[in-house]
Amino acid sequence: MKASKKLMVTGARGFVAGNVIARALKDWEVHALSRGEPLFEHPALKWHVAASTGETDLARVFQQVMPDVVIHTAAIANIDFCEANPALARKANVEMTAVLAGLCESSGSKLVFCSTDNVFDGERAPYCEDDLPAPVNFYGQTKFEAERIVARAGKSALIARLAFVVGFPAFGPCNSFLSRVVESIQSAQQLCAPENEFRTPIDVISASRALLELADGEHAGVFHLAGNDRLNRFELLQEIVRVLRLPPCRITTVDPSQVRSRAPRPRDVSLNNHKARSFLKTPMLEFREALAILTREQPCQTG
Ligand SMILES: NC(=O)c1ccc[n+]([C@@H]2O[C@H](COP(=O)([O-])OP(=O)(O)OC[C@H]3O[C@@H](n4cnc5c(N)ncnc54)[C@H](OP(=O)(O)O)[C@@H]3O)[C@@H](O)[C@H]2O)c1
Repeated sequence: MKASKKLMVTGARGFVAGNVIARALKDWEVHALSRGEPLFEHPALKWHVAASTGETDLARVFQQVMPDVVIHTAAIANIDFCEANPALARKANVEMTAVLAGLCESSGSKLVFCSTDNVFDGERAPYCEDDLPAPVNFYGQTKFEAERIVARAGKSALIARLAFVVGFPAFGPCNSFLSRVVESIQSAQQLCAPENEFRTPIDVISASRALLELADGEHAGVFHLAGNDRLNRFELLQEIVRVLRLPPCRITTVDPSQVRSRAPRPRDVSLNNHKARSFLKTPMLEFREALAILTREQPCQTG
């Protein structure tokens, strides 16, 4: 890999983006695109603030950088917020993607779009890349709409559907489920999770490596980036507490239908990851191995 190859990462202050950037700095000239000020500095990193996600601001930054590849992570990823704020969700998740897809297509840049297991209805798992999305919440709907735009944006546009991503932020505070679990347990709070929602969780280190592999290679189409284990969210919590040797705590189950203002969730969006396992060098892991990697490579947050 030539150091001069330019990678733009959108949503740079986010959980997945920070982890991607942390791993890309060695091999790429990295351009972070964000709505806000830098969280960190590095000689191989250039930080670009776009005042809005409208076409004018995005095009200005894009034309300044002319990236070889864009990994597009920026989104409103909070399912309940999207349900309650559909106009904002569509603007961030669909319209911004459409602008970036257009810019990439017209300049010949590759686009790796981060989508989600929530595009599926959860009734026919495990899902392969060719299965038909049918989202049950507005977040999933916006990501599916964005997928369709990306799929029409030429051969250099890829869709990476991420399963539930587990890990710690690389920089600054952000949307990390694992950080929230550790904090809650360390402050002796009770945790609860549903038993009837199944996921194939992936650690953020493997997800970042796989996204960078997709950015660098000749891959095409849709890829499911997911772990090898299907777990319900209660089992997932139990495993985290056990493997990270967190202080014992009470974990209870919850019936999600009893939680007020919670948007619908698909029941079982386990992803079939055979394509990623066949075409990528980055291994897709059992959940236990994924947690072991996190404790090895992000030890400061678990120690
Ligand atoms: N985490 C998961 O478990 C998971 C699972 C499946 C799919 N995904 C997908 O992976 C991607 C990254 O997720 P994440 O967990 O890293 O999310 P995150 O931590 O919430 O980061 C998303 C970033 O997007 C930018 N953003 C937020 N609101 C925005 C808005 N209104 N307009 C434009 N940009 C906005 C922000 O970056 P700046 O402040 O720098 O602008 C934010 O930090 C998303 O596309 C998400 O749908 C995540």
